[in-house]
Amino acid sequence: MKSRHSAGFVTLFIAGALASLVAAAAKADPAEPTATAAVTDSPEYKRGKLLFIQCRACHELEAGQPHKVGPNLHGFIGRKAGTVEGFNFSAALKNSALTWDDETILKWLEKPSALVPGNTMAFAGIANPKDRNAILVYLREATKAEK
Ligand code: HEC
Repeated sequence: MKSRHSAGFVTLFIAGALASLVAAAAKADPAEPTATAAVTDSPEYKRGKLLFIQCRACHELEAGQPHKVGPNLHGFIGRKAGTVEGFNFSAALKNSALTWDDETILKWLEKPSALVPGNTMAFAGIANPKDRNAILVYLREATKAEK
């Protein structure tokens, strides 16, 4: 009788320990908010932020900021090229029929004049693919529409 009772206790104890392990594992699971924090902590993001200094003279990124020599880039990813309100784009960019996604952005950064001949962005391009990628990682976060 006594041994049965303690066996029951041990079973309960193990079940309890398992339950708390499962609960701890669920807590450790990286949720959506911490994933965003991880991107801004990444070396690519930090490098991209530094590299964007060469674009800053001509481009703002935050909602409500003015166009400069170049258009404000807030929310531009996923949009058709040359369509932001209030900026006087070149006919070349307006007629390019491009949509800004990872592929077109990386090509633009490599050599704007090759992707859209006749565009008016006075920027030669970035030769290093890692640098182009770092700027893309930074732009994805810094131009997010839902900020
Ligand atoms: C000397 C000023 C200047 C610099 C530097 C510059 N840009 Fe631009 N950018 C422009 C202008 C002007 C346009 C519009 C071009 C046109 O209408 O043909 C433009 C257009 C763009 C567009 C297209 C926007 C749209 O809504 O279609 C993107 C994206 C862009 N620039 C990103 C960058 C990035 C990233 C950098 C830095 C690597 C950069 N630019 C550097 C002036 C500049």
